[in-house]
Amino acid sequence: MKPKALIRSFLSVLFTFGLTAGASAGSFFQAYVVVGEAGKPVARAVTTDTRCPDISIDGKPPRAMQMRAAAANVPNRGGAQTESKGVNFSVAVCDSPVPAGAKKISVAGVALPVPVAHPKRILIIGDTGCRMKGSENAFQSCNDPETWAFRTISETAAKWKPDLIVHLGDINYRESPCPADNAGCADSAWGYGFDTWNADFFQPGKALLRAAPWVAVRGNHESCIRAGQGWFRFLDPSPYDSRRSCDDPAFDTDGDFSEPYAVPIAADTQLIVFDSSKAAGKSYAAEDAAYKRYLVQLRQVDELARSKPHSFFLSHHPVLGFASGKDQTVIPGNSAMQSVMRALHPDRLFGPGIDLTLHGHVHLFESISFKSDHPSVFVGGNAGADLSRPLPAALANGAQPAPGAVVDEFFSSGEFGYLTMERAGRAWTFTEWDRHGKAMLRCGLAGAKTHCVPATEK
Ligand SMILES: [Fe+2]
Repeated sequence: MKPKALIRSFLSVLFTFGLTAGASAGSFFQAYVVVGEAGKPVARAVTTDTRCPDISIDGKPPRAMQMRAAAANVPNRGGAQTESKGVNFSVAVCDSPVPAGAKKISVAGVALPVPVAHPKRILIIGDTGCRMKGSENAFQSCNDPETWAFRTISETAAKWKPDLIVHLGDINYRESPCPADNAGCADSAWGYGFDTWNADFFQPGKALLRAAPWVAVRGNHESCIRAGQGWFRFLDPSPYDSRRSCDDPAFDTDGDFSEPYAVPIAADTQLIVFDSSKAAGKSYAAEDAAYKRYLVQLRQVDELARSKPHSFFLSHHPVLGFASGKDQTVIPGNSAMQSVMRALHPDRLFGPGIDLTLHGHVHLFESISFKSDHPSVFVGGNAGADLSRPLPAALANGAQPAPGAVVDEFFSSGEFGYLTMERAGRAWTFTEWDRHGKAMLRCGLAGAKTHCVPATEK
């Protein structure tokens, strides 16, 4: 091979494996942007290097990013499964704030997506990891892209060229070792350390990490006893704090309850991000510590909602969605969240100005609009993890996700896919796509009501 061809071939190998120049075998580098409180972006790098890389913004001299969390073996929090193992983060995580209006960002020579103050194209995905769960003998074929669709969705949706990406939570799913006789998940990483985050998130999500800044919503898989340690290292947008790292159970009362924050997406519209990762499956008693904590945070949500005419509420658990049970039964929305919200807003559950809610957790797509005065709902938990049983095409008469929430329009899909929202003028249009990028359903939003039609109809 001629020298030039040899160099091209070498560079092509580096590109394929996502390494930066100078990286050695077994090394890892990924850089991306997360968006946090008040829409402030933070550039983040994950690297096997022990030093943080340089960041360059708008042609200014490069400067070193700050160490967020050095590589470490961290305490094993036990997880949710019988088998557990040591939790190793073999990578350093580095941060650097991105000033408003930045036009060009690069980390170690890699161009990062630039935050857009008023994004017009927003991609929404949820529940992306590959389930390996011994307690349910549930082992998805993580080695088969037809069975675990996140990589396909990531690569397809990146071509749509979003300005902003929302992940609705539940990222790390490989909690138990793959059984010896199961070829579908053979050789998979498992547990809560970096190797699992790499397999479930960084590798399959690479195209989207490069495509646009991310708003990450925390799921129950990212609660402190599960993958919370990785959550705070890689995706939580606020500064890293050992008391909120999930390393020490003594601080879980803080670690499991992140403060809500708002991300402006238009002059008149914002996302409100709520951490419901620890929400229970049944109503809380008023004396329950989680009830009291959520009550304070939901008052903060009301306060945040007062700052813009329109707010879209993001939480992993669907407050007003449906889950599917056996034999076509339909399970109403999260009663734990409802029990707290009812104390502030007895009928609507949500404060004024919250027009729409977006959730994951249920591994389906749902679109729900109400005759009653409730915000419309999208559930988008169908971006990779094993799908839930489909919901019936039509709800039984009177099915309500919460008492008094009278359904007007209901659509659902039990296929893998993703949701987008696009703004033209002041109007938002939502589209549900299949994993290969075929538009399936298109919805308009007027006030707090959505109206959807199959994407083939105009
Ligand atoms: Fe979940």
